[in-house]
Amino acid sequence: MKLLCLLFFLIIVADPCSSQNTFFEPGAIWKDTEGKHINAHGGGIYSEGDTYYWYGEHKGQSSIAQVGVRVYSSSDLYNWKNEGIALAVSNDLDSEITKGSVIERPKVIYNNKTGKYVMWFHLELKNQGYAAARTGVAISDSPTGPFKYLKSYRPNANVWPLNFPLSNQKRTKKNELYEWWTPEWKAALIEGLYVRRDFREGQMSRDMTVFVDDDGKAYHIHSSEENQTLHISELTDDYLDFTSRWTRMKPGGQNEAPAVFKHNDTYYMITSGLTGWAPNAARSFSAKSIWGPWKSLGNPATGKLAQVTFNSQSTYVLTVNGVEDTFLYMGDRWNPKNHIDGRYIWLPIKIKNKKPEIEWLDKWDLSKYNSIQP
Ligand code: DGJ
Repeated sequence: MKLLCLLFFLIIVADPCSSQNTFFEPGAIWKDTEGKHINAHGGGIYSEGDTYYWYGEHKGQSSIAQVGVRVYSSSDLYNWKNEGIALAVSNDLDSEITKGSVIERPKVIYNNKTGKYVMWFHLELKNQGYAAARTGVAISDSPTGPFKYLKSYRPNANVWPLNFPLSNQKRTKKNELYEWWTPEWKAALIEGLYVRRDFREGQMSRDMTVFVDDDGKAYHIHSSEENQTLHISELTDDYLDFTSRWTRMKPGGQNEAPAVFKHNDTYYMITSGLTGWAPNAARSFSAKSIWGPWKSLGNPATGKLAQVTFNSQSTYVLTVNGVEDTFLYMGDRWNPKNHIDGRYIWLPIKIKNKKPEIEWLDKWDLSKYNSIQP
């Protein structure tokens, strides 16, 4: 009997794998089921049945991709099992996703028609800093991968946005050399300076997310025009391409880190401002159509440290399964001196008077919380 008790003690207490997390602790070190700090930055979640899959940038000390996109699985959102590398960087120096490229903000969606898992991500080519500004796509038969890299590009080449007046299309490129940050530059930017500049080669695509609507249509939302304007683009039925239908959102608004969710018939978006790895005040928007117009609702963060969104930047909003109307803000607390030590700030979103609100909680769990407030 004593031996049995000892065995029981060893299994339950001494085995780190058996310790179960039962709450979120934003900003703490989050360990996976093997006891290792979770490495899935700029991430997003895809869920299937009872399982959530969390995809994110595997970071080292620097933010350059040396490994690829890592995936974890969980049935409760608190305990995450490392499922390995979903999309690996390539050892081929000629590959666009070669080791040393930049792979950010991976998001995975499932296509019912093709039965394929599709991953979109922000790609910067090796040794080019952030100049390439491309979006990349990869495909898999399984949520845990391996994902096969297909291609990357600057989207929407040779097509004007749906909300772009003919007069803006017709302006010539002549006399469009404005000095940055002047009022003339800002006015020209709003009227499509960079849309015209990039018309032939395709529009820049940096921070991004993908969103699947109730009717199965998917949208790619990305920072474009030198990070000054968000673009919202429809994806093809197989989710592997852009259809040519796209709009500009808040021209000159400097929104990064977009995260989209929907409640009833309203679309919501949370973004950050534009300050590199440093945190700033988040923004929120709502719209009755994904194409807009998007109404500005201000900073969703409230209370202490709201001006820096609790030292975080949005990456995704998860609609939690089985808990009606529950939305979870996922943000990154970046650590640019040692990226692997970046932390995860997950907080509940409340929707009050049709406006998202996020407040800081040291510790919380899903049982005590509902997004929709009277
Ligand atoms: C801010 C973006 O939101 C991040 O994803 C990353 O691209 C950094 N800029 C790079 O400075």
